[in-house]
Amino acid sequence: MSTRYTGLINKYRDHLPVNDDTRLISLGEGNTPLIRLNNVPRAIGKDVDIYVKYEGLNPTGSFKDRGMTMAVTKAVEEGSKAIICASTGNTSAAAAAYAARAGITAFVLIPEGKIAMGKLAQAMMYGAVIMQIRGNFDEGMNLVKEVAEHAPVTIVNSINPYRLQGQKTAAFEIVEELGTAPDYHCLPVGNAGNITAHWMGYTESHKHGFANNLPKMVGYQAAGAAPFMRGQMVHNPETVATAIRIGVPQSWDKAWNVQKESEGWFDELTDEEILATQKMLAQTEGVFCEPASAASLGGAIRDVKAGKIPEGSKIVCTLTGNGLKDPDTAIAQCQNAEMVTIDATLSDVKDAILKNMEG
Ligand code: F0G
Repeated sequence: MSTRYTGLINKYRDHLPVNDDTRLISLGEGNTPLIRLNNVPRAIGKDVDIYVKYEGLNPTGSFKDRGMTMAVTKAVEEGSKAIICASTGNTSAAAAAYAARAGITAFVLIPEGKIAMGKLAQAMMYGAVIMQIRGNFDEGMNLVKEVAEHAPVTIVNSINPYRLQGQKTAAFEIVEELGTAPDYHCLPVGNAGNITAHWMGYTESHKHGFANNLPKMVGYQAAGAAPFMRGQMVHNPETVATAIRIGVPQSWDKAWNVQKESEGWFDELTDEEILATQKMLAQTEGVFCEPASAASLGGAIRDVKAGKIPEGSKIVCTLTGNGLKDPDTAIAQCQNAEMVTIDATLSDVKDAILKNMEG
């Protein structure tokens, strides 16, 4: 029997809404690495097990592929010829790729000037019809909901229930690898679809007896876009972590239920904390995530240091997207990087090496 991995729907088909006749639209998404951090726990001097689930290694570089394979598979099964989404970048990249794979059209609404360059390149390259709106994600989302009532398009934002079905499989993978659910699962929160999907995954794992515990779910927001901290919608969200520049979360009620049921919490990080965590993770563990993703680890580290997450805990932080998506923010942060311009001679190269080994 072939052991070739063919994507998460095929692997978890018994737990997903497909049947034997469903044509699967897949790019081999899922099965992402769960990396145990070595240097970070040592640096903070705490006895905790921290794992990062590196979702940036999905086919389009973010966790959105898990949901998109399901949403596009079902859209095609139902006869749809076009999909549509509003996006801060990653959903549009995933929608564009899976539409290309399926041979249908993707329409994407993105906030002008506020999506990372790599994500824009993806939507263009995969051949989506791109509408840059003079407005933010929340306004784009409202437009998408409205237009779907007037045009033959399937919405593939996380209000499409198949998206969360696909995304819940990240929790299945974690339970399989650890043999248990973690004590704490930390995620960045924008629309709050992913935290909701993970909780679905963990509760199903628990029900089926794959895990005999449930994690506390912890959601971290950017301070300038933190409706869960304010207790109300935020009208002009602003953050360097453009992926989570969202003031009106689409899964508001669901995420509050997750917080209550799992006995977890929400918290916020400043842009400075987010960027510092992104750089620290890259430079101490060799893992490059995008800014929004770093909110999960930055928040977890702060809560471990404060004792809110006790020593002895097993923690999983989702790194939702790949650092390569946003090269501008990365380069802007590394203006003091060790980079010298020299002549192409042996002596210059040798001098540069010796100078950098001193001390
Ligand atoms: N991290 C990244 C990298 C994201 O792209 C998103 C959402 C989130 C976290 C938040 O996940 O919305 O389920 O709470 N990005 C969406 C997009 C909004 O359009 O790509 P959430």
